[in-house]
Amino acid sequence: MSGIQSYISSNKQRFIDELIELLKIPSISADSAYEKQTIQTAEVIKTSLEKAGCDHVEICETDGFPIVYGDKIIDPKLPTVLVYGHYDVQPPDPLDLWHSPPFEPVIKNTDLHPEGAIFARGACDDKGQMYMHVKALEYMTSHGELPCNVKFMIEGEEEVGSVNLSHFVKANREKLKNDVILISDTGMIAKDVPSITTGLRGLSYVEVEVTGPNRDLHSGLYGGAVANPINVLTKMIASLHDENNHITIPGFYDKVENLSDAERAEMAKAPFSLEDYKKALDIDAVYGEEGYTTNERNSIRPTLDVNGIWGGYTGEGAKTVIASKAFAKISMRLVPNQDWEEITQLFKIHFESIAPAGVRVKVSPHHGGQGYVTPIDSIGYKAAAKAYEQTFGKTPIPQRSGGSIPIVSLFEQELKSKTILMGFGLDSDAIHSPNEHFGIWNYLKGIETIPYFYKYFTELKQ
Ligand code: BES
Ligand code: MN
Ligand code: MN
Repeated sequence: MSGIQSYISSNKQRFIDELIELLKIPSISADSAYEKQTIQTAEVIKTSLEKAGCDHVEICETDGFPIVYGDKIIDPKLPTVLVYGHYDVQPPDPLDLWHSPPFEPVIKNTDLHPEGAIFARGACDDKGQMYMHVKALEYMTSHGELPCNVKFMIEGEEEVGSVNLSHFVKANREKLKNDVILISDTGMIAKDVPSITTGLRGLSYVEVEVTGPNRDLHSGLYGGAVANPINVLTKMIASLHDENNHITIPGFYDKVENLSDAERAEMAKAPFSLEDYKKALDIDAVYGEEGYTTNERNSIRPTLDVNGIWGGYTGEGAKTVIASKAFAKISMRLVPNQDWEEITQLFKIHFESIAPAGVRVKVSPHHGGQGYVTPIDSIGYKAAAKAYEQTFGKTPIPQRSGGSIPIVSLFEQELKSKTILMGFGLDSDAIHSPNEHFGIWNYLKGIETIPYFYKYFTELKQ
């Protein structure tokens, strides 16, 4: 692997240029207006995998966006690494908050990225991080340093719930057989604090609708005499947390895994500055469940958040009206052992039960998924830790993340393999937000670290 650093320095510009080309294509899976571009992105990934040395690459059609599969099997007796990533991106809205257009990537320096960062939708989540694996493979195949077999599976529906990928995985267990799954679609604590993500939260996403009178009403003629769906909805939502910010849905916490004091103490060792955290978000105080630290609130504890709320008149000026309907989208982040379908059901029963007379309530579940935890004594974790030690000169810190990649628990269930999450993004990279970016330093560090994972995994496995 000694050649990786010099290979990166002589190919750095090309690595950046190729990623920029990929970022120019608006592969927004949620928006059907971008269907053509999303499919085209799969083609681009296919070509890049072929160029990087995969022997066999195919586009696997699904009922939704295609999955790009590629492999290089050097010896069936050697271990196999399965790389997963996604080529779809979140919608870029709100567009007016971007300092440069989301699909016209630009490189700018920031305080945290003095070497420059690429600003574009998908730069970090997940095109940039996924492409590190393609370039790492290119290095290994072109230098005769690929120590084991590799399979790639890059999907185009992660941001909309990976529904078709689940079918694909269930139908292709043999094809996807592997010894470990490797994903870069998470973050690290800081550039000088490498970390390995050992947990992901589950998710239950629902939409609610509150209906009052059969039409919009004059707020003077009817105001005070009928239930106003917006007033009612906001009151119902407010009641979902108590004064300690505990969630009030009966049974919600029943299966929540409580960490031991020792585990919590271990977690608290991770470097974290509350002052910097508040400063980065421009808030004067943090907020959340009583009895837990900020890092616990956003990783080992379940949450309930309104993601969007609408109804009534929101145009210019004033309109005196009581809307017939009010709506909200609500996400619940879950921790291991909470079953997302059960939680969805508990939410539905509770939400319907707290509706006052005079309104009707409809709860429609969207997608969801289970949480995930992985031990730190597995061969995969040890190999990843050694890889970081090699390239960062430091032992990485295990970290449970608050985000979700629901397909990871399905991999465990269907393929019986553990996933190693080697993320290289920073929290400040603004994923899902305007001005998403990915540091060039992080991008290149990822490319440098990944080949060592293959090396150490293969060595430890034998
Ligand atoms: N890559 C993210 C998840 C993530 C980011 C995990 C940072 C940990 C750290 C992924 O693309 C994502 O956005 N997942 C969605 C869930 C999905 C079902 C839409 C999420 O977490 O909201
Ligand atoms: Mn992602
Ligand atoms: Mn995402």
